[in-house]
Amino acid sequence: MFEEAQYFAPIATQDDGSVVVELAASHPGFADPVYRARRNAIAGLAVNHRRGTPIPVAEYTEQEHEVWALVTRELAVKHRAYATAEYLAGAERLGLPRARIPQLQEVSELLEPLTGFRYLPAAGLVPLRDFYGVLADGYFHSTQYIRHHSVPFYTPEPDVVHEVIGHANALAHDRYAALYRLAGEAARRVEGEEALEFISKVFWFTLEFGVMREGGELRAYGAGILSSYGEIEEFRGMDIRPLDVAAMGTTHYDITKYQDVLFAADSLRHLEDVVGGFWATCDDDSIAKLVADAS
Ligand SMILES: [Fe+2]
Repeated sequence: MFEEAQYFAPIATQDDGSVVVELAASHPGFADPVYRARRNAIAGLAVNHRRGTPIPVAEYTEQEHEVWALVTRELAVKHRAYATAEYLAGAERLGLPRARIPQLQEVSELLEPLTGFRYLPAAGLVPLRDFYGVLADGYFHSTQYIRHHSVPFYTPEPDVVHEVIGHANALAHDRYAALYRLAGEAARRVEGEEALEFISKVFWFTLEFGVMREGGELRAYGAGILSSYGEIEEFRGMDIRPLDVAAMGTTHYDITKYQDVLFAADSLRHLEDVVGGFWATCDDDSIAKLVADAS
């Protein structure tokens, strides 16, 4: 089973049409009925959303806006030390609000004139074929809830901080946006589940957890690292391996802890050549050959 399925809280639709998010007992918001009601309401917005219509407004509390403001401020300091120049340029161009959580509709409207990408609300896990496939059309599925305010620097699941600070700032740069589109085109091209999973793992080790050399040091461009207050301080000490599509597509990872194996590109051009080139041309047969050669 593909591990990312455990990443998101399951969503259930009741007989009366209401939507329930099944938080694990270990989730920081598990025992907070007000937070859980809000999570259910926000998930309901996504379940009932139809593409092409405005993304409904999610209601957040003042405490939640304060979480956003705090995390935005602290991450911005770390980004100056650890993020790639292109990610920083994307963030500058996008100009996300710093004091309050932006609505996804607003993120979409900031992003579309820059690179054509638009946001779509997701209640939880989106099936891989849909999540990756629509990247080819310039759509990015995003959760809309925010982490529990009791632990502002921790979330067990991808929340709006991850989706927007991690992904939208990268999607605001033309060269990263082009890579996201190529991943989507690759996902559309392949028919088999094995090939789709391979493509998604290459995405994981690049656009989620990718690092690259810049000015003699290692910097991150992956959304998973750049949205994590703890992980961003640790990635330089991990097992850093050379960029290698066959290795990325077949390396196991554990989503429940910091990623201890990372793949470094020598430059953005190197990433575009190796990974962009792979996504631009791969098919079921070429991926099957990479898997066979790697084993
Ligand atoms: Fe992500």
